[in-house]
Amino acid sequence: MALLTVKNLTKKFGGLVAVHDMTFDIEPGEIVGLIGPNGAGKTTLFNLISGIVHADQGSLMLAGKSLIGMRPCHRSRAGIGRTFQVVRPFDMNVLENVMVPALTRTRDTSKARKAAMEVLEMMGLAEFATRSPGNLTLAQRKRIEVARALATQPKLLLLDEVLAGLNPTEVAENLPLIRQLRDTGVTILFIEHLMDAMMAVAERVLVMDQGALICCGTPREVTSDECVIKAYLGEEDPQC
Ligand SMILES: Nc1ncnc2c1ncn2[C@@H]1O[C@H](COP(=O)(O)OP(=O)(O)OP(=O)(O)O)[C@@H](O)[C@H]1O
Ligand SMILES: [Mg+2]
Repeated sequence: MALLTVKNLTKKFGGLVAVHDMTFDIEPGEIVGLIGPNGAGKTTLFNLISGIVHADQGSLMLAGKSLIGMRPCHRSRAGIGRTFQVVRPFDMNVLENVMVPALTRTRDTSKARKAAMEVLEMMGLAEFATRSPGNLTLAQRKRIEVARALATQPKLLLLDEVLAGLNPTEVAENLPLIRQLRDTGVTILFIEHLMDAMMAVAERVLVMDQGALICCGTPREVTSDECVIKAYLGEEDPQC
């Protein structure tokens, strides 16, 4: 059974169709990339899956159970974790930032502290546990964002541009983490503009343009697809 099933999902903001009739599945254990030009609707799709905005039409299922009508906190408990495109840590130290989401899985603060510390170790952030996120680099703050999502123990992890703004060395250091996370049993859907990164880790890529899914395939297939090339170059093609 697919882990995530999206059928005919549509979201309009006034006259703007941000997500238009999207249908796709994600299988357990996959690493799927989501690409598309600015404003294509990628973050809105994440907002729909995590429940921050509600769909106008269509269905969404996690392991066969409908998510429609469920609040974001209940979707988190059901196994959907996400990061935000704009990183906004709480005004607390790094460990406490990760303990807050860990407390959605246990009421015991010492268990939450231990779980948060384990996540920080996995993310290579343990040495910064008592530091304020404001004093860390963007690359480290993006890792905290991933750590916070992981602390909710997701089955499906939605990563929204976690490599954006990092220098090439930082990108190279962070890329293997995506595979490591999957190897711990987490299924990953990640938005990324960096094509090299997408080619290196995604097993399958979904391409959105103007709210619609215009292509789906291996990284090699989508980067040589004419509709995808035209979407990025901004040309109209009646065939696409
Ligand atoms: N809450 C909202 N209210 C009104 N319009 C919105 C809202 N959220 C998104 N939009 C619009 O929906 C469209 C899709 O936006 P979205 O943020 O999903 O794109 P994106 O693919 O994530 O772009 P980027 O690559 O720049 O992050 C844009 O035109 C955006 O202005
Ligand atoms: Mg976005």
